Amino acid sequence: MRAIQIDRYGGPEVINRRELPVPSPGPGEVLIRLAYSGINFMDVHTRQGKYAASRTYPQKVPTTLGIEGAGNIAGLGSGVYDFRVGDKVAYCLSWGSYADYAIVAQWRVVHVPEQVPLELAAASMFHGLTAHYLAYDLGKFSPGVTCLVHAASGGIGQLLVQIGARLGASIYATTSTEAKAQIARDHGAKAAFLYDNGRFADKIRELTGGRGVDVVFDAIGRPTLRDSMRATRTKGLVVNFGSVGGDVIDLNPIELGEAGSLFLTRPRLADYLSDAETIRRRAADLFTALIDGTLSIATAGRYTLENVEEAHQALENRTVIGKQVIKII
Ligand SMILES: NC(=O)c1ccc[n+]([C@@H]2O[C@H](COP(=O)([O-])OP(=O)(O)OC[C@H]3O[C@@H](n4cnc5c(N)ncnc54)[C@H](OP(=O)(O)O)[C@@H]3O)[C@@H](O)[C@H]2O)c1
Repeated sequence: MRAIQIDRYGGPEVINRRELPVPSPGPGEVLIRLAYSGINFMDVHTRQGKYAASRTYPQKVPTTLGIEGAGNIAGLGSGVYDFRVGDKVAYCLSWGSYADYAIVAQWRVVHVPEQVPLELAAASMFHGLTAHYLAYDLGKFSPGVTCLVHAASGGIGQLLVQIGARLGASIYATTSTEAKAQIARDHGAKAAFLYDNGRFADKIRELTGGRGVDVVFDAIGRPTLRDSMRATRTKGLVVNFGSVGGDVIDLNPIELGEAGSLFLTRPRLADYLSDAETIRRRAADLFTALIDGTLSIATAGRYTLENVEEAHQALENRTVIGKQVIKII
């Protein structure tokens, strides 16, 4: 089978194309014939070595890239009773989806409803389940809740705006370009504007009568986090769930006190998808919303196993609006 692997960390040049034997599923595992793989910023972080020392995402080289896919069950390990060969399935948070086949622990796998095409399933699991826990468990979106979403035209950003608007929260959005801001408005953001070197915090204060928002979703990190804190109300919540702009390594807890007794969390999807029941519940909500049209995910780019470097480059160049996928079959 074909697989896209890395043996060392670095830029797109560390990506290798390999022919490997089709693996056999062990106890509790399934073999999936992949039709599509999602492409995520987490793949760029993986390639760069960000998880080399991670406890949550222990990941060593050599590894096959990709943490999200959809396809059909092609083999069952012992003790697997929830799936049959041929079932249409999807999963996320298991490495190895830039390949023809992937071995995945069965508890991470969900059935995909007939109405959801495999491409959409592969495009929606990772970002969709992330947006689900961020919106429901952390943002607690409901009428009256005010929220700022950075990178609002990004994969997770677009979903947070849509879910927030649907649940009646007031969502303010920031982006790097006016065209991206318009995407956020189209998805229901109450206002969308540029980061403006951190002056988004002043704008938020102005728009909320000086109060600040209840919660900020910040996937950018170092360039924005301190201004995100300035945009948050007293005793509000700052959710730094990503660091596409670099890690924050010098934050003194006293700064949270000075900013208004803030709560800061650096959550990880793995801790909010820790068992099969939770994954199936979140995925069922996600697929229902995709089917009834309350949530939309636009495919921004289709690649093959031959040109994934271009997809990574587009993510790093910030030119992607929406979701990129690899068509495998
Ligand atoms: N904690 C979790 O549970 C969890 C789960 C999934 C993903 N994540 C993390 O969330 C982050 C976003 O992931 P994603 O897949 O949703 O990415 P994405 O939306 O496809 O892209 C990230 C967005 O970040 C913005 N950005 C700001 N500074 C950037 C920079 N220096 N380089 C590139 N983009 C920059 C870009 O929008 P603008 O140009 O408008 O700024 C871009 O659209 C990643 O760090 C990822 O690892 C965390």
